[in-house]
Amino acid sequence: MIGVRGLYFAYDKGKDFIRDISFEVRQGEIFGFLGPSGAGKSTLQKILSGILRNYRGNIRVLDTEIKHRSESFYENIGMVFEFPNLYGKFTALENLLFFSSLYENRAPDPMLLLERVGLAGDMHKKVNDYSKGMKMRLAFVRAILHQPSLLFLDEPTSGLDPGYARIIKELILEQKKEGRTIILTTHNMHDAEELCDRVAFIVDGQVRALDTPHALRAGKRDVEVSYTYRSGEQEEAGLAVLSALHRDKEFMGRLNAGLLTGIHSKEHSLEDVFIELTGRCLK
Ligand SMILES: Nc1ncnc2c1ncn2[C@@H]1O[C@H](COP(=O)(O)OP(=O)(O)OP(=O)(O)O)[C@@H](O)[C@H]1O
Ligand SMILES: [Mg+2]
Repeated sequence: MIGVRGLYFAYDKGKDFIRDISFEVRQGEIFGFLGPSGAGKSTLQKILSGILRNYRGNIRVLDTEIKHRSESFYENIGMVFEFPNLYGKFTALENLLFFSSLYENRAPDPMLLLERVGLAGDMHKKVNDYSKGMKMRLAFVRAILHQPSLLFLDEPTSGLDPGYARIIKELILEQKKEGRTIILTTHNMHDAEELCDRVAFIVDGQVRALDTPHALRAGKRDVEVSYTYRSGEQEEAGLAVLSALHRDKEFMGRLNAGLLTGIHSKEHSLEDVFIELTGRCLK
């Protein structure tokens, strides 16, 4: 679906910001760019979607070298930008009807989508009078309106309350079920884990790791288990290693003697792994 080989890109001539990035995105997967602010996630999205064109290296998207894309290329692409680009003087419905008119493929009914994202009651309001979250929701509807086969979503839940963030995440998963391929940019490890089939860790314009969220977490050092147990009149705490619990004489002795009062495994979060592999936090 997407093939990137030896990608370099500079905003300032001679000073490469994106350096030597290569990866592939498979048809039908949700592929995440996870990284802190300023890492280069939006830059990458803009290069892959053909907006920033003076890159070096090879990028094939939908079998087209992105530099040589034609106008019809965008028939198959939907995008949510970091800062929603909608016509402020138009109402929400006018925006959707206008953007829809640019494409051959039309949504069966934009109203259904507006209802899903809770904007049906505000569809005749000018977008200038929308809140940031309302604009994000409208921008999402706009991106999927023409049923593109490839979606680029840059922080699609940013500025949304948890209820609407959930609805957008459900819509993203529905898009995947319908066979679409999705590139999702985020600095939220929960979104990355919940939505992405594979995740690329992005720091300083480079990919530092790339795998499924599960494999990234499993590749970490052993998971620790903390537990509490009765010791006479007291309750004491113990620590063990999950993969060696069966060989841990102290733990097994307390377990077999029925002394355990609590047990808790301390799984590593994707953020723990991110910090260990990149030396950087996600925030
Ligand atoms: N138009 C531009 N001209 C020059 N530098 C830019 C431009 N856009 C972005 N940059 C720089 O490129 C770097 C990466 O920015 P980018 O927007 O890709 O980061 P990001 O990972 O999307 O961050 P965030 O999570 O804050 O959205 C930053 O140092 C930024 O200042
Ligand atoms: Mg960004």
